[in-house]
Parts: sequence; C-alpha cells; structure tokens
Amino acid sequence: GFLFVILSFVWTDLPASVVNGIFFPSPTQEHWISPQNATSIKTMHPTSIHGVEDMIRLGDLNEAGILRNLLIRYNERVIYTYTGSILVAVNPYQLLPIYTPDQIRLYTNKKIGEMPPHIFAIADNCYFNMQRNNKDQCCIISGESGAGKTESTKLILQFLAAISGQHSWIEQQVLEATPILEAFGNAKTIRNDNSSRFGKYIDIHFNKRGAIEGAKIEQYLLEKSRVCRQAPDERNYHIFYCMLKGMAPEMKAKLGLGLATDYSYLTMGHCTECDGRDDLSDYSSILSAMKVLMFTETENWEISKLLAAILHMGNLRFEARTYDNLDACVVVRSPDLVTAASLMEVEPKDVMVCLTTRTLITRGESVATPLNVEQGLDVRDAFVKGIYGRLFVWIVEKINAAIFRPPSSETNIIRKSIGLLDIFGFENFFVNSFEQLCINFANENLQQFFVRHVFKLEQEEYNLEDISWQHIEFTDNQDALDMIANKPMNIISLIDEESKFPKGTDATMLYKLNSQHKLNSNYIPPKNSYETQFGIQHFAGVVLYETRGFLEKNRDSLHTDIIQLVHSSKNKFIKQIFQADVAMGVETRKRSPTLSSQFKRSLEMLMRTLSVCQPFFVRCIKPNELKKPMLFDRELCIRQLRYSGMMETIRIRRAGYPIRYSFAEFVDRYRVLMPGVKPAHVQEDLRGTCQQIVLARLGKHDDWQIGKTKIFLKDHHDMQLEIERDKAITDKVILIQKAVRGLKERTNFLRLRSAVTFIQKVWRGYQSRKNYQIMRSGFLRLQAVYRSRKHYRSYRMTRLRVTLIQALCRGFLIRQTFWRRLRAVLTIQAYTRGMIARRLCQRLRAELQRRLEAERQRLAEEERLRNQMTARRAKAEAERKHQERLVQLVQQQEEREREEKEEARRKKELLEQMEREKEAPVDHSDMVDRMFGFLGNAGPLPNQDGQAPAGFEDLENIPRGEEAEEEVLNEALPLPDEEEEDLSEYKFSKFAATYFQGVSTHTYIRRPLKQPLLFHEDEGDQLAALAVWITVLRFMGDLPEPKCQIVINDGSEKIPVMTKIYETLGKRTYKRELQELQVEGEVRRRSFNHVQKRNSVRHKLVSLTLKRKSKITEEVTRRLTEGDYGLQGNSMLEDRPTSNLEKLHFIIGNGILRPALR
Ligand SMILES: Nc1ncnc2c1ncn2[C@@H]1O[C@H](COP(=O)(O)OP(=O)(O)OP(=O)(O)O)[C@@H](O)[C@H]1O
Ligand SMILES: [Mg+2]
Repeated sequence: GFLFVILSFVWTDLPASVVNGIFFPSPTQEHWISPQNATSIKTMHPTSIHGVEDMIRLGDLNEAGILRNLLIRYNERVIYTYTGSILVAVNPYQLLPIYTPDQIRLYTNKKIGEMPPHIFAIADNCYFNMQRNNKDQCCIISGESGAGKTESTKLILQFLAAISGQHSWIEQQVLEATPILEAFGNAKTIRNDNSSRFGKYIDIHFNKRGAIEGAKIEQYLLEKSRVCRQAPDERNYHIFYCMLKGMAPEMKAKLGLGLATDYSYLTMGHCTECDGRDDLSDYSSILSAMKVLMFTETENWEISKLLAAILHMGNLRFEARTYDNLDACVVVRSPDLVTAASLMEVEPKDVMVCLTTRTLITRGESVATPLNVEQGLDVRDAFVKGIYGRLFVWIVEKINAAIFRPPSSETNIIRKSIGLLDIFGFENFFVNSFEQLCINFANENLQQFFVRHVFKLEQEEYNLEDISWQHIEFTDNQDALDMIANKPMNIISLIDEESKFPKGTDATMLYKLNSQHKLNSNYIPPKNSYETQFGIQHFAGVVLYETRGFLEKNRDSLHTDIIQLVHSSKNKFIKQIFQADVAMGVETRKRSPTLSSQFKRSLEMLMRTLSVCQPFFVRCIKPNELKKPMLFDRELCIRQLRYSGMMETIRIRRAGYPIRYSFAEFVDRYRVLMPGVKPAHVQEDLRGTCQQIVLARLGKHDDWQIGKTKIFLKDHHDMQLEIERDKAITDKVILIQKAVRGLKERTNFLRLRSAVTFIQKVWRGYQSRKNYQIMRSGFLRLQAVYRSRKHYRSYRMTRLRVTLIQALCRGFLIRQTFWRRLRAVLTIQAYTRGMIARRLCQRLRAELQRRLEAERQRLAEEERLRNQMTARRAKAEAERKHQERLVQLVQQQEEREREEKEEARRKKELLEQMEREKEAPVDHSDMVDRMFGFLGNAGPLPNQDGQAPAGFEDLENIPRGEEAEEEVLNEALPLPDEEEEDLSEYKFSKFAATYFQGVSTHTYIRRPLKQPLLFHEDEGDQLAALAVWITVLRFMGDLPEPKCQIVINDGSEKIPVMTKIYETLGKRTYKRELQELQVEGEVRRRSFNHVQKRNSVRHKLVSLTLKRKSKITEEVTRRLTEGDYGLQGNSMLEDRPTSNLEKLHFIIGNGILRPALR
C-alpha cells in the first residue's frame, strides 16, 4: 500500500530523493509514498514555500531549504539572494535586463535589504561603507569555474566607475586592464568559454572625494601548462588566436605566422574556434586597451614576437639518437627553429644545444649530458612556459605601472580602497595535483577569514544587543590550516623542503608527509605503500592529491642552460622579462623561492590586506554544467553550496540564536497570540510588549533573550511561536472568512432575489398581457359568433320571408303565366281546333261538294243515259261510273293527306336544325374573320378585295390609281380635328415627335419600319417591336400575307385564349435568356458574318418567343432555322399566312409579355 500525498509543501528525506535524501516536490507534483515512510515527511516552513530574499530568514535553514529557495527564485529569473551579508549569485547564462544605468541609479546609496538582492547593492555598500567608515573594503568573489566570478567582478567595477562618476583617464585605464588580462590569462575550457586561468585581486584606490584614483592588480598562479597542453575541446590563451586572426598580414609575415591550425600548441584540444567569441574584434580591443595602458608600439611588437616564438617552438620536431650508448635527441632543423631563434634573437644552434643537452657542474667542471626526446620536449615546454609566465607577470606589472600611484608620503592625504578578489573556488577533481592543493589552501584561508568574519558579526550583534553569548560555540577550520601551512613541519613546508633537497622525489615527500601527519584527523594517508595519493579533510570535504609531479611543479625553476640561452639573446625585452633569473647566480637560483612558498607569501599578504578590510562575500553558483539558461542541477548546486562555506554561517547561527526579530517585527508578527495588543507603530513600550508575549507563550525559563532592539530566539521557539501564530491566525481567518462569506452570500442573495423579483415581474406582466390578448380575442370571437348568430337568425328569417314572398310571387306569377298561357293555349287550341275544324269542315264541304257533284253527274248521266238505254241499265251504268269517280276522289284525298304530312315533317326538321345551331360553339377565329373580314387579307395588294362593311364605305371612296395610292401610303390618315380634341398636353403627335426614333412621325404608314418607333435597349424588344408592326400592317390588310400556304390546324377552338397567347409567344422572356442571347450575339459578331449573326439572334428570339411545344412554333422554328428570310424582324409571320386571331394574339401577347412594348 502507498499513501498518496496531495501536495502541500513538504520535506522528505526518503532514500529515493534527489539530493542526498533531500527532496522537495513542487506543488504541482503528486507522489506515492509507502506508509512506513510517511514519518519522513515534514511540512515546510511558510518561508520556504515562496522563497525569501535573505536566506537567514528561512525557517528551514538547512541545505534543502537554501537550495529550494535558490531554485524557486532562479525559476523566476531572480539570480541574486542574500544569506546574511553574503550574496549568492546563480549564473543565469543569459543577459538579464538588470544591469542598466537605471538599475545603477536605483541601487545607489541604498542600505542592504532596502532593494532586492543585487551585485550592485554589494558594490554600493562597499563604496558607501568605505566613505562613511573610512575603512578599506573588500569583496571576495568565489565560485567554481564558470560560476560568474569574473562577470561579477566586472559588474562591480562598472558600478564603482559609474557612481564615482568622474569618467577620468585613470578610471578608463582601470577598466581597460580587464581585456588585456583576459586576453593573456583567460582561455576557453570545457567549463567556461572565458575561464580565468589565474587568480586576481584588484585593489581600487579612491581619493577623498570618492573618485577612482588608481588601482593595483595582484595575480595568482597562472596556469602555465595551458601554453603547452590543452585538454580536448579546450583552447590555449585567447591572445594567440586573437593575434593570428587580427594581426595585419605583413606583420604576420614578419613573424612567420600562419593560421591557428598550423601550430601544435594551439591544436591540442582540437578546437581553435570558440562560439560566442570574436577573436578578430577582440584583438583590436586588446590593442586599444594596450594603448590606453601605455604599452608602447615596440613593447607590443616584442610581445607579439615572443608569442610567435612560442608558437614556432611548439612546432619543433625532435628525433631520437644514441651517442655512446646514451639516449640522445636532436632538433630537426626547420624554418620554425630558425624563425623562433631569430624572433628571440639567439643562435638557432644555441637553441638546439639548449634543448638537447643539460650542463651539469660537478666540482667546478661543467659536463654536458645529452637528453632523450622526452626530456628534450620537457625542456622545450619548460622554456615556453617560463617565457609565457614571465611575460604575463611583466604585463601585469606594466598595467600596474600605468594605473598604480604609490600612496603619497604626505600623511594628511588618506586614500581608501576597495579590493575585488576574483579567485578560483574550492576544487575537487577526479585527479587533483599541486595546483589544486594551492587553490584549496587559498580557499581554506578564505574560509577561515569568512567564518571568523561571520562569527565576529554574530558576536558584534550580540554585544551590540547586550546579550550574553559565552556559551555559543563554533568550529572553524583552523586545524586544517595549521596542518597545511601554519604549524611547524606543515605540509607546504615539507613539500618545499623536499623540493630543495637534491635527492628529494615525490615518493620521499609522500613518505615524510605520512610520517609527520598520519595521526592528524584532517590528514588521510594513502591506503598502502603503492598508493601515491594523500588526502586532506578540507572544510568542504575530503580531497585526494596525486603526488606525482608535485616537486617538479613546486620547484618551477628553469634550467641554467635556458637562462644562459636567454642571457645570450640580443633581445632586450626577453632579457627584461627574465631579468630576475639572469641577475641571480646559479646558486641563489637553486635557493630561489619555490612556487608554494611564493604563493604562500602572496596569500599571507592578501590575507593581511583583507583582514584590515570590511569584507563582503559574493558566492557564485553555477546552475548547470551545460552553460544553459533556466536549467538548475540541484546536485551540482548543493555541492557548490557546501564548498562555498555557506553552511558554516548557518552552523554559527544555529549555535547562537538563529531567529531574531526587531521588536516592531516581532510585535507585528506575534501580537495575534495576545489578544488586545496593538500594532507596533501605535505601541510605546515595544520591548515590554515583546517580553509579555514571549513570557506568556514560551515561559520564563526557556533560553531566549531580549536585546536592545531585537529579540533572540532559538529555532524551536520560532517553530512553537509559528505554530501558535498559525493557529491563531487560522482561527481569525476562519472568523473573517465566515463574516466575509456571510456578507458575500447575503449580498449575492439579495442581488439574486431582486433579480428574481424583477424577472418574475417582467414574466408576469408578459404572461398577463398574453392572457389578456387571448381573452380579448376570445371575447371578440364570442362577440363575432354571437353577432353572426344574430345576423344568421335574422337572415334566415328574412330569407324565409323572402322565399315565402318569392314563392308566393312566383306562384302568383307562374299561375298568372300559367293562366295566361292556358288561356293562350286554349285560344290557340280553340283557334287551331277552329282552324282544323274549319279546314275539316272545308274539306268535308269540298268532299260533300264533290260528292254532290258526283251525285249530280250520276244523275245527269243517268238522265243522259236513259235516253239511250234502259233506265235500269242507265242507272247501273251511271252507278258504275259514279263508283269510279268515288275511288278517284278517295285517291286524291289520300294524296293530299300525304303531302300535308310531308310538309309537317319538313317544318319539324327545320325547327330541330335551328335548335341545334343555337347550341353549337362559337368559332373565335371565324368570328374574328367575320368581324374584320372587311379588311381583306387574301389579295396580292391590300385593300383591293371585298366590299367595305357598313360605316367604312368612305375608305372605299378614296380615288384609285398610282398617285392616289402613293399619296395614301405616304400621307397621314385623316385625324379628328385638332381643335375638337382639347387634350393638347397628351397629343399623340407631340409624343411621337418627342420619342419616336429616326424619321418616324405620328402618322400611320403602310410600310414595315426600319427601326422600332421607340428606343429599346434590348435587342429582343427591338425585333419584337418590328414584328408587331408588321403584324399590325398585315392585320390591317396593308401588307400582303406570305404566299406559302400551309394549313395548320392547331385545334384552337378548344384552347383558351391566354393559353394560345402563351403558346404563340412563349412564356419565358426572362432577362437572363435575353442577356444570354445578347452575349451570344456579341460573341458571334466577332466570328460570323452579319447574316449569320442576325440569323442566330432571330433563331434565338423565335425559340424564345414561341414556345417550342406549340405546333406552330415547331413548324416556324424549323423553317426559320432552315434559312430563307424575307423581312427584317420577326419571321414568325413571314412564311405562312396567319389568321387574324393569331395576329391579335401576337400583338396583344407581346404587349402582355414584353413590358417594354406596352
Ligand atoms: N551575471 C551574469 N549575467 C549573464 N551571464 C553571466 C553572468 N555571470 C556569468 N555569466 C556567464 O557565465 C560565463 C562564465 O562567467 P565567468 O567567466 O565570470 O566565470 P568565472 O567564475 O570567472 O569562471 P572561471 O573560474 O573559469 O574564470 C560568462 O562568460 C557569461 O556568459
Ligand atoms: Mg573568471
């Protein structure tokens, strides 16, 4: 099982933690922790959560606390933090906007702590302390390589130059010393592109008014081996590369120089370029700086010569030889050798001898022994290192000569100084050698100085506050220092002694060290006799030193042969830099001070200088090895914190009273613990109040003290007070929260409530209005219904009555009619019957007449016959003849009856036919023809056929003949008298004069027009107008119909008129199609001839105006597309005579469908 920690800020020392069991999660992280480990979690002090400017104020004043504080500030790009009087500077590896002149102004004349931590604050304090206290100041800047020491030094210098504010020549000279020193003493290493390979102490002197008056530079331990050897990816000193890049070609030629890659001394690290450095421009700034610092042209040239000589020496090649069974070597003769020799103004032969043999003086006799290749190379390298080391010393001296003014002997002129120590920090590499011992020795000294200073500060504070501090203990590194350099038989002196002892070796030295110090707790002897390392417990940890090469490095002396060679040189400069060596005799040189003793001496001097100064400490921290911004390697940083000795400060503080508050601060912070205590600024007896609070909270017997202005507490007091304060504040906070939340909620509630009421109000209003509307319309409907019912009822009544009246009336009328008809019928019947009866009577009478006639004839016959024959026979004969006549009469009768019947039948048929004709539909076409038949349309010439209808006879009276006709055609038709028509405003003639195009007048002409009367933009409209005109002419009979006769039966009788109009004209005369038509016409105009264009446009128009489905159209379209046009305008009427109805359709239809034609 694991615990899930939702992070508040906690410390833990779990084994899996990042730095030595210290691990601090950020609040955004989540962690699983096993329950067993839950106890290792400790909550953070509030000061650790957001960080503090002065780490002394950290509640968790331990490594993790300091580291976390630095980290959270670094992440916010705040690189400076105080720990008491120490400034911790974390290298930002990026240019921060915090070094501007404005910032310098901001930090000028401020107390430490008044402004956020800054290197300028330190510089400012140095300067003003110096002036106020009349005391020299120093600033000790330490840190690993690449941590930013040199940059900090430069920033302080810059600040001091700015605030001393003279812009004097000397000030300029002091500032210009840096580029020269950096050129000769700095190089690119893997840790730092501009690593100072020497330590330096710049003492800046100020006059009484605080202006820079001069300076003195002290240098320590230049890394000479770099001239001959560089680790991979490292470079030799900048000056070589700058010179090769920047020197004028002719000068380079004089020195026999080429490119950096040509020299083995410059290419050991396989790196001749350095990103971010511009060797070329650096060279010119070096030269100008040298000018400022009074280097003469000759001196400059001599320096270049020596540098060139060094490079040529590096290219010498040695070859192994054997003489008399002895290993020997020779220098291969080469231009390099010659050039090197000539540059040093010595004989090449001498150089060769010097580098390949060694002169030993035994019993007054000098014997030359050959050297093997390895020794030869060593000698060469020693020579070169000797030259460069001395050159560097000379340069520093030269600079000092320019900027240093020895204090004047007049005692009343006092001058003060600020010293800046930019020196390598504590070093502990994989292999540590003599240099590291020296460096760490220096750092032990500085640490001692630092610890004493811090402790002294503490003591001072306690004294100042009148607090007893006797029982405060602290450990310093005095023992280690004693062992290294102070006590008799110390390590340095043993090494020195062994160096001077002719038979001394690194092994004998180690033996002596062991035997002398093996019991010392600060000494770590080698584990066995083969081991060549010994260790020292330094303040920052154990360092193991590799003893091989110790003595050689310490001796640091040049062989007599080399001195001799230099002595033989004709070059004054080289002699000058070797002056001290040459001046010494051989013996004295042997006893000349070793490196360690020199260093010890200069260190002692430095410590003496520092001890009379008021010190400031700047601890530079390198946040990562990659020179990257915003990258914080915790392990690397915690190591540097340990080396920086900051823990010592903490230990000292812890030993005493680490927590201290001014009374005001204390009262303000803890008055919550005592109800009723007023804030500090309204208190009178602050001390008393403090005492009251502590007494009440911590008790009388606890180990706390009250000073004059401060109260001093132990850690656990602070913790206890903090916890109680936290609790008290939490209670108060809860109370305030309660009230505030209550208030907030209440106001919120009130706001909500008023909002709700408002919404309700609006809603209800809206609802009521809506309901009212509904009700109102309901009532209206009700009213309407009621009224309609009432109306309906009265209507029904009325209707009933009306119907009744109607019925009665109709009944009455019908009856009346009926009776009238009945009477009429009866009358007709009576007459008819009378007529029939009379006819019958007539017929019967005629019959009777005829019968009587017949009878009479019979009788007459009988009479006649009786004369001839017997009566009987006559009677019979008469009878027979009478019978025949009767039959004849009957036949005649029948004949008449048949004729009558036939007559009746015919009449009936006639009636029926009339009835049928009445029912038959009207033929519009015929009707129109009949109506307008008088206009005539069939003749070859208009107006020639047919009789004029009634009312138009006058037209016929126009005289015939050519002239007359011509006249008629050209002249206007008689119009009504103008006087009669009093509409002068609207006169047609006026309109025509105004609007008609071309020569057209208002008079009617019986000819096709060349262009439409009115102007039409649209081509379709133009054509249609012309077509309409032609149609009008034809309709009027003034233009002949086309000859071709095609009988088209369109069945128009059954089709409504409008349908026919549409069919004739087509429904669509949309603009789009017309435009399309026009565009097409436009396009075609370019490619086709005129006829074709008209053709296509016409075709379009036809298909547009005549609907394709129509039988007429189909026919017309077909004909149109086949070509053969007679007339301009629409050809719809060209090839086929049209009925009057069709013409009317066309004319009116165009009017309907083409608004422009109306
Ligand atoms: N305050 C700063 N602001 C910006 N960059 C800085 C600052 N301090 C240091 N640096 C960067 O870090 C690099 C190394 O700094 P510097 O040369 O001062 O280191 P150093 O401590 O003198 O190292 P060494 O011991 O090797 O001489 C500088 O070249 C610069 O790029
Ligand atoms: Mg440096």
